[in-house]
Amino acid sequence: MTAAEIRIDLSRPIGTISPLLHGHFAEQLFECVNGGLWDVSSDRFRPEFLAAGADLGLELIRWPGGCFADAYRWRDGIGPADRRPRTVASRWGVDEIGTHRVGSHEFMDFCRQTGARSWLNLNVGTGSPRESAEWFEYMTMASGTSLSDLRAEHGAPEPFGIDFWGIGNESWDCGGKFTPAEYAEQYRRHESAIPRLRGVPRRFIAAGPDGNKPEEREVWTRELLSRLALWRRPAVHAVDAHFYTWGDREATGTSDSYTGDQFAAMIARTLEVEPMLREQRALLDAFDPTINLVLGEWGNWHPDANGNRFRTRVTIRDAVCVSATLDLLHSMSREVSAATYTMLCNVLSPPFQTDGGVPILTPVYHAFHLHRTHRGGEALPVEIDSDPVSWSAAGEAGTIPGLSASASRKDGRIHVTAANLNPWEDCEVRLGPEVGRVVDSRLLASDDPAWSNDAARPDRLSPRRLDVDREAFGSRILRLPPASIAAVTLEAPTPAGL
Ligand code: AHR
Repeated sequence: MTAAEIRIDLSRPIGTISPLLHGHFAEQLFECVNGGLWDVSSDRFRPEFLAAGADLGLELIRWPGGCFADAYRWRDGIGPADRRPRTVASRWGVDEIGTHRVGSHEFMDFCRQTGARSWLNLNVGTGSPRESAEWFEYMTMASGTSLSDLRAEHGAPEPFGIDFWGIGNESWDCGGKFTPAEYAEQYRRHESAIPRLRGVPRRFIAAGPDGNKPEEREVWTRELLSRLALWRRPAVHAVDAHFYTWGDREATGTSDSYTGDQFAAMIARTLEVEPMLREQRALLDAFDPTINLVLGEWGNWHPDANGNRFRTRVTIRDAVCVSATLDLLHSMSREVSAATYTMLCNVLSPPFQTDGGVPILTPVYHAFHLHRTHRGGEALPVEIDSDPVSWSAAGEAGTIPGLSASASRKDGRIHVTAANLNPWEDCEVRLGPEVGRVVDSRLLASDDPAWSNDAARPDRLSPRRLDVDREAFGSRILRLPPASIAAVTLEAPTPAGL
């Protein structure tokens, strides 16, 4: 058994936890949308995912890609479904035939039904500024133009409120293999082509760096920003950095076969997102602190995803990685404005999966759900003392903290999430110093690290009640099993009277 203490500082709130930090990414890739969110046999979104998405609150969805976006022609996805073209997407070495059954209208309907805001990614890699401008007009122009009439003809007389427009994706690789200078030039062309429509926000997100490449990411952002500053500056609402927790068979195992050391190695890789975010924030601050930093792709990429249509098993390890990242994002509420988890369904380590056509909620879904109470709350600083965890795998070795946690205050309550990052031992967590009555407490744990949810056992990993003990001086004791996540809601202590 290890020990840890979480001290919550109620006197110095960090800032509001934006619900946009809990967003998702739905790319038209393999069975994420077609065959995943969208049930091809009944020709509709799966009602189970709509209901679970609405219950969780998906908050923000990025679509249609990803690499897919830079080959996407938006006109392929509008109009009568049976007349939409079939096209091939070959980015991942598999000739994937796309039907475009889910296009702009269907995507917006999915957002509406799950309470999500929308982030559409424009095609810079193979598209033209004119196409970007026309898609923008089609979606947002109130009425009176041929494109707004066409939208109405397709069933949407009212304009769609699009929250964010990405200008390109990973433009340093699949989005055009541009240098930062070339991409800055493309960005200017697309941004300036997009019409200024009365009452329609122009929130453009620029393609940020490959956050996994320390030697490259700083150069990308620095040079991009300095190029955008030359001459007349285009509107830039945010810069979108990407960061994956890459696994490899030796050091981290496969999605559902890993040792304790390999579990910890994956956590160590996950935590590397923090210096990347801090570095990128500092670069933006030096240029213009009003530009938002966004983490547009993040999550675990296990080696067995490759060659398997990016499908893997989703285990407690993925959920703990999500929990630790959300804790970090809460603590960085002032630095990071939005994040979209990769990916929403069937691809990589998603919250939604289908197993032989049966919709499944994975432990990653439950991790997001346990964190849900933080949204819109005031992030509170937490000081964590924990017994560190040492690991060694495939010639690599390191130490990670024993516990991850975040806290927030909302409507007279304190919400705390905590993950035991130790894969071998229980952790006794003291929560204090003075916290109020426990209102709710839940735990997500797994008796076996290899377990995942599937059609035969859809609820094998799902939250259960967690007993919380009271200690002297108002602190609380939680006992967390190895590799587990707890969410506790407490009444906020009332200030002592005179
Ligand atoms: O998430 C899958 C792919 O990973 C996306 O298409 C791309 O943006 C990234 O490289």
